[in-house]
Amino acid sequence: MTGDTGNTGDTGISGVLETLRRSITDGEHHVRQQIEADMGAQFGRYVEIGLALREACERRDWHDTVIGRLKPYRRMIIGDLPAGVQRHGLLPPWSPQQRAQMGHRRLEQIPDSELEQWLIDDGRLIYGEFKPQELHNYFTVIAPYLKPGSAMIDLGSGLGKVVLSAALALPFATCTGVELLPYRHAMAQQRCDALLAAGAAALAALPSLPARDTPLPLPYGMQADAAHLLDLRQRVRFIHGDLFDADVSQAGLVFMYSTCFAPLMERIGDKLARELPQGCLVSTTTFPLNHPGLREVAQFQSGTVAWTTVFLYERSGALADLPPAPSAYMYEPPADRWEQAVRQQLAALTA
Ligand SMILES: C[S@@+](CC[C@H](N)C(=O)[O-])C[C@H]1O[C@@H](n2cnc3c(N)ncnc32)[C@H](O)[C@@H]1O
Repeated sequence: MTGDTGNTGDTGISGVLETLRRSITDGEHHVRQQIEADMGAQFGRYVEIGLALREACERRDWHDTVIGRLKPYRRMIIGDLPAGVQRHGLLPPWSPQQRAQMGHRRLEQIPDSELEQWLIDDGRLIYGEFKPQELHNYFTVIAPYLKPGSAMIDLGSGLGKVVLSAALALPFATCTGVELLPYRHAMAQQRCDALLAAGAAALAALPSLPARDTPLPLPYGMQADAAHLLDLRQRVRFIHGDLFDADVSQAGLVFMYSTCFAPLMERIGDKLARELPQGCLVSTTTFPLNHPGLREVAQFQSGTVAWTTVFLYERSGALADLPPAPSAYMYEPPADRWEQAVRQQLAALTA
């Protein structure tokens, strides 16, 4: 995280807040780090299957097989060919010989059920985040729903932009990010450390440290006091882990940029309905949470807050023994069109 840490014109604590807010820059175009050998069993399986698929994609005589294996699961693929097998994917550049030495299977030895799970994992590891204007729009529309002093959690927090921005701009007691991929978690932690260091330096440069109860107007029409900034270090936390293991029992707002989470939405809805306190807000992008324990309070159509739809829910009501939620998939590309697009992309891969 670098960016504009220049003078905002306000030399007081409001100026410090504004300077820090402006220093949080986009992470969308960060350099993706490939998965490494020592990242544990979960990623080991991801690498094994991904490389088997990529090896088949890179051989013309295997293209029909690849298409035949993927076609039944095409609704799970974001785009045409899965991101993981493309050149910008997260898979390491191991050769077929290296793979064979490690005892990796070939595509024909991998059952459909494992391939299906691989496609789910591959999709959810795709990176995306709100552009600055979209995040501003998002904070504007959710501010009226927030309870000052509550806890915010970003499930799948990536490089930490939403967590850090929310901790500065909104009166949350704490903001926590939970991220599965180690390198993204590490980058979020680095960005956080840089922000805290810049904050400490800017506060130290003030003529005197403000009293904790000095009023501090926040953007989006909300109020805080100087403790909001003085305690920034205690208010922000990044956890390396799986969102399904996250403790959400004290949350006031759960944020998810869920645009790549389609196959996970039912499981996420179930976890949240069971574990959230009553009244907790949940927001998702692109995919709804069709769970009876989550009441929709607002829906912001694509093109209003962000390029995609934003849904806002509230945990409400007793957990009844209700039928499972309908599938969150919204779209399955027509088989012919999908196959044509994949053939073109496979040809480009082998060119
Ligand atoms: C679309 S990005 C959003 C990043 C961030 N929330 C933002 O809006 O700036 C989704 C993130 O979720 C992470 N992710 C996927 N599955 C996860 C899981 N089971 N637990 C935690 N994080 C996960 C991905 O690695 C990715 O960084």
